[in-house]
Amino acid sequence: MNAPLSNSALVDKDQEHMIHPLHQNAAHANAKVWVEAEGSHLIDADGNRYIDGLSCLWNVSCGHGRQPMVDAAAQQMKQLAFCSSYNGSSNPPAIELAERLADICYPQINNFYFTSGGGESTDSNFKLARFYWKAKGKPEKVKVISRVLGYHGVTFAAMCATGISSYWPAFEPRMPEFSHIPAPDPYHYPQPEDGSSLGIAAANELEKEILKQGPETVAMFIAEPVQGAGGVIVPPADYFARIREICDKYEVLLVADEVITAFGRTGKMFALEHYGVQPDLVQFAKSITSGYLPLGGIGISDEIAATIRESASPWMHAYTYSGHPTTCAVGLATLDYIESENLVERAASSGAYLLEKLHSELDNHPHVGDVRGLGMMCAVELVDDKEARSWYPPEWGVGPKMTKAMIDHGVFTRMRSEVVCLAPPLTTDQATLDELVAGVRNAVVDVFGE
Ligand SMILES: Cc1ncc(COP(=O)(O)O)c(C=O)c1O
Repeated sequence: MNAPLSNSALVDKDQEHMIHPLHQNAAHANAKVWVEAEGSHLIDADGNRYIDGLSCLWNVSCGHGRQPMVDAAAQQMKQLAFCSSYNGSSNPPAIELAERLADICYPQINNFYFTSGGGESTDSNFKLARFYWKAKGKPEKVKVISRVLGYHGVTFAAMCATGISSYWPAFEPRMPEFSHIPAPDPYHYPQPEDGSSLGIAAANELEKEILKQGPETVAMFIAEPVQGAGGVIVPPADYFARIREICDKYEVLLVADEVITAFGRTGKMFALEHYGVQPDLVQFAKSITSGYLPLGGIGISDEIAATIRESASPWMHAYTYSGHPTTCAVGLATLDYIESENLVERAASSGAYLLEKLHSELDNHPHVGDVRGLGMMCAVELVDDKEARSWYPPEWGVGPKMTKAMIDHGVFTRMRSEVVCLAPPLTTDQATLDELVAGVRNAVVDVFGE
């Protein structure tokens, strides 16, 4: 038998034929080739173990190597690996998953359309918002408002809502119906001068933008309850209640992008529960299968779903893999696992532990500007000048330097330029969380000094 290839030999072969998401040739030369994983650890082709500091892409919430998901996939593949779910066909795992989601999702959301991931879910909600407003006799309501540093995927339409501007230049012009308001970022949002709270001031940006665009043209506002890829931005407690009021006042659908936050990540099953607010539409992906198979979807309020069910013209929106029986069976096994292992409650308590530990180890470092988080979603923002809350110039390369230093200390995660994002599996034990924090702390010292 041939000896397994080393990490660097595999990278050489990879570079001959593969193009990767966010491809950048030079950076990929140092790629990790993962061959195995267990619990909260990833193992590369040279046998090195790393803490999976981001649950891969915020999705492997149940941890790696869980047998129930493997068994559910194998069993369903043997029985019926795939069938169409187009109008006129359905299958028991998809039906059961929709029923199960209706039980655990926001009370007014009881209807589900399945996709294969987050970006498809975003596009599905854009199209549903247009469909709904046409059905309501308001066909001019087509515009989408989202937020700076929001991430909603990078299909062409989703990219237009995504507010991380580095995703745009190579593909512009963007579609004109999209605009962005500032993020409700407690660390950077300017202190309001009119005495209102930061949360209310940041929410009022939505009202200003709706009035600027013309309320009769705005279909929806899309927001992550906690902005993830944009650097784990946790909004002030009063933000979303005011957002809900504004959406109601101007007849704008509130779409919660819970692709990262759904299924326990923040310590609640769905994250707007923290703020006592219900959205009109919700979207999810990632943790619905803990990343074991690609599945996403949108949850639709009863009122909006009625427009589809009662429409004389069909909902001409479809994906081959919508309602895929095997991915839905794995979704059901994942929900069972989340429930039986108490992962929502554990995310709340382990997340509080992780945040506290990050504060105690990092707050007093001169280049750590902010440590923040909610549940098992945390971030460490690195700054040049702590007083001014200013960043190093991009050419200084905080992101690549920190990424490498963390790998040297056994932690694999992602940065948003100067922000270290941390979202380990919800099953991660305290000893591993301690190692994770030590790895980040050691990396900060390597890059910035004591
Ligand atoms: C909040 C949010 N929405 C949408 C997406 C896009 O999901 P996908 O990469 O599955 O298209 C992501 C991906 O990270 C996300 O974090």
